[in-house]
Formats: sequence, structure tokens, C-alpha cells
Amino acid sequence: MLALLLGLAFVASPVATAQAGEAGPSFPKAQGSCVDDPATMRRHHFDFLTHQRDDTLRAGIRGAKYSLKECVTCHASTAANGKPVPVNAPGQFCQSCHAYAAVTIDCFSCHATTPQTAEAKP
Ligand code: HEC
Ligand code: HEC
Ligand code: HEC
Repeated sequence: MLALLLGLAFVASPVATAQAGEAGPSFPKAQGSCVDDPATMRRHHFDFLTHQRDDTLRAGIRGAKYSLKECVTCHASTAANGKPVPVNAPGQFCQSCHAYAAVTIDCFSCHATTPQTAEAKP
């Protein structure tokens, strides 16, 4: 219940807090544009991901819009040494927000956390 309340309070104004550098999470910005508008993604990305996973695993549908691999391709940042930084590392895109909202995800025990080549993990 606490996690839910934190999540909701946070979803109401994440950009303002992130930009003001106040209590909210801060994380590296991606390039280009997201697969949906950022406000929609903030509120619904987990539903989109779960839905697409079910489509893939149950119906064999691939290459659709909300691919976890593509999230990582855009949202992983690059360290000064040129190496990609895992999206679930402290301060990184997926992790910083989830830490703030007290959310834990198990996706990255299977899915790659850095941009991958075609033959690597899903
Ligand atoms: C083609 C690149 C690209 C892809 C693919 C992509 N994004 Fe994004 N995303 C962006 C950009 C650019 C922004 C806006 C700037 C920022 O917040 O990084 C953004 C914003 C977001 C935000 C809002 C962040 C905030 O500022 O509050 C969320 C959440 C998000 N994306 C999740 C995802 C998820 C989940 C996926 C995979 C289903 C995904 N994105 C795929 C580029 C991408
Ligand atoms: C702008 C903040 C933010 C960013 C960035 C973000 N998330 Fe989330 N995510 C949340 C919040 C808040 C929840 C909890 C929503 C709820 O339960 O109501 C959540 C929940 C989830 C869940 C469901 C967890 C569960 O068990 O219910 C998944 C899966 C998820 N996020 C994947 C991702 C991935 C993958 C990325 C990086 C590509 C990402 N998220 C980036 C805020 C964010
Ligand atoms: C036990 C390993 C495992 C875990 C844990 C797991 N996945 Fe997957 N996921 C897979 C496999 C295997 C596929 C199938 C890849 C394929 O056949 O293309 C898949 C496919 C997907 C797809 C469809 C392919 C794509 O990227 O469009 C999405 C989306 C997805 N998973 C999201 C998630 C999310 C979100 C979580 C965490 C809530 C998660 N997965 C946790 C193994 C896993």
C-alpha cells in the first residue's frame, strides 16, 4: 500500500520534480522520441510491456511497438569509457524511477540491460 501511494504521488508530477532537481528521481535523457508520448509512458509503460510480452509468448507476435529490447536500446546511457551502462544500474533510467517509487521488477534476470546485437538475449 505504501508503494502504491508513493507511486501515485510520484506519477502526478515526475517531470517537474526531476527537472527542478528536488526530491524526485533523476535519470539520463534518451535521444529521439519515445514509442508513445512520455506522459502516457510514465503512467502506462508496465501495462504496455506486459501486454506485448503476452502477445509474444502466447501468440508469437514479434516486432510490435513496446519492445523491452528497444526500451533498452534508447534508454541505456553510455559511460565516459564508451561502454553502455545497464538500465537497471543505480541512477539509470529504469532503476532510479523504480527506486523512488519502491517498485521492483524481475525482467532483467532474463532480458538484456544494455543495447544488444541481434543474436543476443531477447
Ligand atoms: C526511439 C527511442 C525510444 C524508445 C524505443 C523508447 N523510448 Fe522512452 N523515451 C524516449 C525519449 C527521447 C523520451 C523523452 C526524454 C526522456 O525522458 O528520456 C522518453 C521518455 C520515456 C518515459 C518518461 C520519462 C520521464 O521523463 O518521466 C518513460 C517512462 C519511457 N520513455 C519508457 C519507455 C519504455 C518502457 C520503452 C519501451 C517499451 C521506451 N521508453 C522506448 C525514447 C525512447
Ligand atoms: C518515470 C518513472 C519510471 C521510469 C523511467 C520507468 N518506470 Fe517502470 N514503473 C514506474 C512506476 C511508478 C511503476 C509502478 C506503477 C504501479 O504499480 O502503479 C512502474 C512499474 C513497472 C513495471 C511493473 C512492475 C510490477 O511488478 O508491477 C514494469 C515491468 C516496469 N515498470 C518496467 C520499466 C522498464 C523496463 C523501464 C525502463 C525501460 C521503466 N519501467 C522505467 C515508473 C517508471
Ligand atoms: C524467465 C525469463 C524472463 C523473464 C523474468 C521476463 N521475460 Fe520477457 N521474455 C522472455 C522470453 C524468452 C521472451 C521471448 C522472446 C522471443 O521469443 O522473441 C520474452 C519476451 C518479452 C517481450 C516481447 C518481446 C519484445 O521485446 O517485444 C516483452 C515485451 C517482455 N518479454 C517483457 C518482459 C517484462 C516487462 C518482464 C518483467 C516484468 C519480463 N519480460 C520478464 C523471458 C523473460
